[in-house]
Amino acid sequence: MSFALEPLTGSPPERYAQLLAQARALLHGERDRIANAANLSALVYRALPDLNWVGFYFYDGTELVVGPFQGLPACVRIPLDKGVCGAAARTRQTQRVDDVHAFPGHIACDAASRSELVIPLVAADGALVGVFDLDSPRPARFSADDQQGLEAIAAAYLEALA
Ligand code: SME
Repeated sequence: MSFALEPLTGSPPERYAQLLAQARALLHGERDRIANAANLSALVYRALPDLNWVGFYFYDGTELVVGPFQGLPACVRIPLDKGVCGAAARTRQTQRVDDVHAFPGHIACDAASRSELVIPLVAADGALVGVFDLDSPRPARFSADDQQGLEAIAAAYLEALA
């Protein structure tokens, strides 16, 4: 199997459709959550511009623990009442933050981060798996198209675990 991934082209929804197809190809036939998180982090980090961190935190029953990622070394554990990641896990709602400096309790793992998108990962049985976290050095980097496209990739990740 080759992973020579084609560059994305067209409108944002078209680009995300291509990225989702690439993600599904990577996930195909594999259920291991670490392996899939590692490959998805690498795929997304390489495919999308203006990102300085892409990765996963897994819920251990108490707090979030860092999983596979691309970017600078990050905080290892995040309580659910802390940070953008904690808010996404606690509320089970995607957090799209245009200016992380204006977000109460934001945790700066990389001082370059200015905007952030965190998608909660909730299994079909309702169990919290963790979060998928993306950081950008550019303020307001993440649009509604980005949110929708990356939520679809997070859903594909969860489907692969099932
Ligand atoms: N900024 C996140 C912490 C994780 S790092 O960005 C990798 C937060 O506030 O939850």
